[in-house]
Amino acid sequence: MSHFTKQDELVSNDSLNPSLSQLIDASVSRRQVLAGGAALSASGLFAGLLSSPAAAATVPAAPKATALGFQSVPFSTADKVVVPEGYLAEVLYAWGDPIGAKGKQPAFAKDASNSAEEQALQAGMHHDGMRFFPLPLGSSASKHGLLAINHEYVDPGLLTTDGNKTMTEEKYRKALAAVGVSVVEVAKQKDGSWQVVRPSKYARRITAATPIALSGPAAGHDLLKTEADPTGREVLGTLQNCSNGWTPWGTYLTCEENFDTLFCDFSQKSDHDFNKTRYGVADEEKLYKWNEIDARWDRQLSRNEINRFGWVVEIDPYEPNAKPVKRTALGRVKHEGATPSVAKDGRVVIYMGDDQRFEYIYKFVSSKPWNPTNRRANRDLLDHGTLYVARFNDDGSGEWRELTHGKNGLTAEAGFANQAELLIKTRLAADLVGATKMDRPEWITVNPANAGELYCTLTNNSQRGAEGKPGPDAANPRKNNLFGHIIRWNEAGDDPAALAFKWDIFALAGRPDAAAEEHKPGKYAGDAFGSADGLYYAPTGVLWIQTDISTSTVNQKEYAGMGNNMMLASIPATGEIRRFLTGPSGCEITGISFTPDQKTMFINIQHPGEPSNEVNDPAKPTAVSSWPDADPAGRPRSATVVIRKQDGGVIGV
Ligand code: FEO
Ligand code: CA
Ligand code: CA
Repeated sequence: MSHFTKQDELVSNDSLNPSLSQLIDASVSRRQVLAGGAALSASGLFAGLLSSPAAAATVPAAPKATALGFQSVPFSTADKVVVPEGYLAEVLYAWGDPIGAKGKQPAFAKDASNSAEEQALQAGMHHDGMRFFPLPLGSSASKHGLLAINHEYVDPGLLTTDGNKTMTEEKYRKALAAVGVSVVEVAKQKDGSWQVVRPSKYARRITAATPIALSGPAAGHDLLKTEADPTGREVLGTLQNCSNGWTPWGTYLTCEENFDTLFCDFSQKSDHDFNKTRYGVADEEKLYKWNEIDARWDRQLSRNEINRFGWVVEIDPYEPNAKPVKRTALGRVKHEGATPSVAKDGRVVIYMGDDQRFEYIYKFVSSKPWNPTNRRANRDLLDHGTLYVARFNDDGSGEWRELTHGKNGLTAEAGFANQAELLIKTRLAADLVGATKMDRPEWITVNPANAGELYCTLTNNSQRGAEGKPGPDAANPRKNNLFGHIIRWNEAGDDPAALAFKWDIFALAGRPDAAAEEHKPGKYAGDAFGSADGLYYAPTGVLWIQTDISTSTVNQKEYAGMGNNMMLASIPATGEIRRFLTGPSGCEITGISFTPDQKTMFINIQHPGEPSNEVNDPAKPTAVSSWPDADPAGRPRSATVVIRKQDGGVIGV
């Protein structure tokens, strides 16, 4: 194994300006900036934008919508993507499609016979969080760019020709190559459609075998050292990459969520270490069976490998040779996403959900402001800062409680010898400071017209109020919360770095015809939905909501007749939520990103055909879906889909 070297590290190129499109998302249109609205002048972000001559020249004007510009689509059980009249949905990049590496572009084999080596040059499985980065860096180009795409996990029943009843070295290596991240170059064509550019110097896969640096306060700690890496500073791979984030300087953040599912712990039944008590590691062998081939997934043989997962990873999509970095200062949880914002004084703030029942919402505030004119100066920005966890008081007030060693009772006596250990055990620290246990925090998004206003999906929690479990509270008000809700908060003074906030509930998801009161919608008018997950407040003023009703939940009687997972839109001030899209059978909808001109929306269709209930039957991979293959016997494939208007207009309005 090679070792961590500074020279290889992220963001090696300091000659470029920050990517303005990244700023636009956390800000507003040029028109609004120049108009100097009250909400805008409050933010240091705009000062940064306006001080750059390039900004005024390149930030496009986006309309601030007051109404949604499409007709609601009905529930659907069709095995296809359905969009409103006037819109197109086109598959761009499906599992197994070549990334466009120079000279090597293996085509997808419909019987899943691609080798591990080929898979490493193809799209991974189960696309999730995603981000469009304009080309060139620093522009607001909307016809040419890079897509960074998470591949959350593998479905062993679909990945190889005969599943993984019998595990082999080759199947293991193919699985490693099918998770992680893709970076692909994409371009708009003359007819308005999009294509992956092949070959491309940017084309890249980061997999569960790619060397990744560990940096920040926990790097080098004993709990991160293994036999293969005695330094505790370099990990092979990232995995369970769920939602995402980005930075103002144009890097991508990918978030490691359900990492515990890769590990087993046969011999340690009496050893209740923190990974078992608070991070969900189980005794039994898991679906993936990686431990049968490689000792690093077996905690009996490699005790600390698990501590090297559960982090936020920074990747520079513009620098194909830059080494990705796990940023330990942002804490170790089952990270859903890492949503960026900028404080009034220019410090970078990253909001993060920990997606499990009764887990918490976090934010990280960097020690220093980011540097808009020297990209290299931001290289280690996310290694230094303060981590906080949210407490939602019943009276509508809220507090960010600091997770710093030596404060708030987080001492050696409490089990944290130093900040490094505290970060490795982030959940245990949050337990001690009185954070509020939430109904599965998923995505978080920032109001583009007011960086102080945040929204977070709380997807569901069937155990709220169950025997032995926490009961409802003001922020999680429903027992057996099967449909979930969306919470909103305002940071004090509209400053993302504030330590106090006021909160309310934006929407209680549900259906008007539900039998139980707790399953009826509240706080909003419009279409029924449940289990909101993806969330993105676009610069147009449209709040986009994507659903992930899990297979186990969708079959419950409360969800009967609601069809496949969907995507909805809202102009929050109107209190209306309207269904925009329905997905193929068995999928979830996730991964939303726009071009700066707001005329192209990229989304991901994840796990069409779930459950692959004929797992390991090569003749019939799944009874549920063959999407996007028109042949009903085809193997379903997660894919990136381009949504655009037939008339080429702005999406949603
Ligand atoms: Fe990977 Fe919480 O969704
Ligand atoms: Ca999710
Ligand atoms: Ca989910």
